[in-house]
Amino acid sequence: MSAPTPATARIELPRGRVGVRIAGSGIGLPSRTLTNADLEKMMDTSDEWIVQRTGIRTRRVVNREAGECTLSMATPALRGALADAKIDATELDLVLCATMCPEMACPPTACRIAAEVGAGRAGAMDISAACCGFVFALNMAHDLIKGGAYRTIGVIGADTLSNWMDYSTEGRGTAIIFGDAAGAVVLTACDDPSRGILAQSMHADGAGWKDIFTPTSRHHFPAGVDPDPRKFGHLQMNGATVFKFAVGTFPNLIQETLDKAGLTPEQVDMFVCHQSNARILHAARERFGLPEDKLYVNIDRYGNTVAASVPLCLHELRAAGRVRDGQKVMFVAFGGGLTWGSSLWQL
Ligand code: UT7
Repeated sequence: MSAPTPATARIELPRGRVGVRIAGSGIGLPSRTLTNADLEKMMDTSDEWIVQRTGIRTRRVVNREAGECTLSMATPALRGALADAKIDATELDLVLCATMCPEMACPPTACRIAAEVGAGRAGAMDISAACCGFVFALNMAHDLIKGGAYRTIGVIGADTLSNWMDYSTEGRGTAIIFGDAAGAVVLTACDDPSRGILAQSMHADGAGWKDIFTPTSRHHFPAGVDPDPRKFGHLQMNGATVFKFAVGTFPNLIQETLDKAGLTPEQVDMFVCHQSNARILHAARERFGLPEDKLYVNIDRYGNTVAASVPLCLHELRAAGRVRDGQKVMFVAFGGGLTWGSSLWQL
C-alpha cells in the first residue's frame, strides 16, 4: 500500500474553476382547477376555514381520465426550461426527477421524461424525498457539475398528490392543501467559479415517518393506529404535528444556511420556500423581519404541490424578473420523511 499523498502535494481539481448557473426554468400545469367552492361541494368544509388556516384559494389537479399525470406535467416543464436556457435536449448529461408520485415503480419517470424531450442517452433517475425532493436534487446536480463529471443537468420537481387524496369529509384535513404541478430547471457549468451554491443542507429524521405516509397495506400503519382499509391509497398526515415541526424547522434551517455562508438575511435577495401553509411562511418571514416581497408566496393559487412547489415559485419569479443573475437566492423545503433542506445560490 502506498503512503497517503501529503496535503501539500494535492493536485488541484477542476472543480475549483467551475461555476454552476441556473440557465433556464419551466413549468407544467394540469388542466383542471379545484377551488375552495368546489371542495365545499365534496366535503364538510368552507372557503373561510381553508383561507384562514392555509391561505389557499385554488389549486390545479390532473384530469386522470384524459391521461394527465406526473409525466405529462414534467415533460413540458423540462422542455420549457431547455427553451428558456436556449440549450438543446441533446446537451443534457443527466435528468433528475424529484417525485413521490412516479407513474410506476419501474421505469423511473425521469427516463420517460428524458426520452420525451429527446435527451438521447443522458442518464436519468427519480429522487424520492417528498416535499424536499427538488431542493435535494438541486444540491446533488450542482455538486455533480461542480465536481467536473457532468456539464448540463435537468432537474424536475413533479407531483400528483390528487391521486392520493380522500376528497370526503373524512380526509378534509389533508385534501384541501394539496395540488398537482411540475417545475424544472436546467443547470449548466460556467467559467465563473463564484456562481453556484454558497451553502446547502440536507436533513432527515425517519422517526417522524408516521406523521406523513401513504399506506397501501395494513402493515404500513404505525403501532396503535387502526389499519382501516379505507385509508389505503390515501395520504395520512398529522397536520398539527407537521405544522409545529415546520414552524420550528423553517427558521432554524434558514439560520443554519446563512451561518454556513456567513451571510445575514438582508444579504439574501429572495427566499424561495416550499409552499405548505401561508401561516408557516408568514411565521418565517416575521422571525427574520423580512419585507413581504422577499419571501415569495403563491400557495393561494396552487396549494401545496410537494416537489413542484419550489421550482414553480422560482419560475414565476424569473418570469417576472424578480429573480435574476447576480442575486443571492435561498431555496428551503421540508416535508415527509421527515426531511428538511436548503440551497443558497449565487446566481
Ligand atoms: O408539505 C407537507 C407538509 N405538510 C404541511 O406542511 C401541513 C402542515 N399542517 C397544516 O398546514 C395544518 O395542520 C392543516 C391546514 C393541515 C390543518 O389545520 P389545523 O389548524 O392544524 O387544523 P386541525 O387539523 O388541528 O383541525 C382543527 C379543527 C378540527 O375540528 P375540531 O376537532 O377542533 O372540532 C378539524 O376537524 O378543524 C377541523 N378541520 C376542518 N374544518 C373545516 C380540519 N380540516 C378541516 C377542513 N374544513 N378542511
